[in-house]
Amino acid sequence: MSFPPDIVPPFPEMQLGEVWLVGAGPGDPRLLTLMAVHALASADTVIHDALVDPRILRLARESAELHFAGKRGGRPSPNQRDINELIVAEAKRGRRVLRLKGGDPFVFGRGGEEAEALLRAGIPFRIVPGLTSGLAAAALAGIPATTRETNHAVILAAGHRADGDGAAHAWEALAATGQPIILYMALAQIEEIVAAFLRGGMSPDTPATVISHATGEGERILETRVSALVVDIQSAAIEAPAVIVVGSIAALRAVLAPGMVKP
Ligand SMILES: C[S@@+](CC[C@H](N)C(=O)[O-])C[C@H]1O[C@@H](n2cnc3c(N)ncnc32)[C@H](O)[C@@H]1O
Repeated sequence: MSFPPDIVPPFPEMQLGEVWLVGAGPGDPRLLTLMAVHALASADTVIHDALVDPRILRLARESAELHFAGKRGGRPSPNQRDINELIVAEAKRGRRVLRLKGGDPFVFGRGGEEAEALLRAGIPFRIVPGLTSGLAAAALAGIPATTRETNHAVILAAGHRADGDGAAHAWEALAATGQPIILYMALAQIEEIVAAFLRGGMSPDTPATVISHATGEGERILETRVSALVVDIQSAAIEAPAVIVVGSIAALRAVLAPGMVKP
């Protein structure tokens, strides 16, 4: 890729033995950053997770080694320590390593843990953010994350903790803020989460939109209300990956979507 250097500074060369932790966005390759495309064109080893769209992997160099190191909910998957070890080992082999993660590597992506492992191992690394699925899926569905009329904050929350560790959510307290909540990884726990939202004072009439497989094949968008969220997800047989937008912003889709050109 080349651009006028007074507009786009030259891309840093990926060095041997270096690791780039890169976000691949929600799926559509056109939503990759220029840095992500550059990294794909440079890396010797690509270590990717389950949410990286297959079209994006085809942008890797023909000679690049591809490693799947993803976590798949409910199915056997490599643990985080094994993944960290693989990334470190590939860098120690003197490879240019691209650790490619769906969305943004630092949003529910364990990118921070991987960066810490690289730091401990003395491996130089670079972080390249990506479009996080919660915000990108919402935007593409015609849902702004904020508007001056509706909200002054937006909450990104993980509905389930893959390993059952980490701090428990105070769902009631999140609901009590009155601010919209964008849920990741929440399908399995949605019944408990909705019950907690209602205990926290959220109105059952609050708009909710579920977006599954955003920007990928089989994208589905379900518009509903909090009171019907559980039943509607079940009857529409919505499957992961999905994000759920809960709050007044979700209603803006009805206003904006009719004017939006199709992707
Ligand atoms: C482990 S988290 C990774 C989040 C990712 N780092 C990001 O910034 O989007 C996985 C969750 O992200 C959401 N997700 C990722 N890609 C998605 C997509 N294309 N459509 C809908 N949800 C997606 C789902 O909630 C999924 O369960």
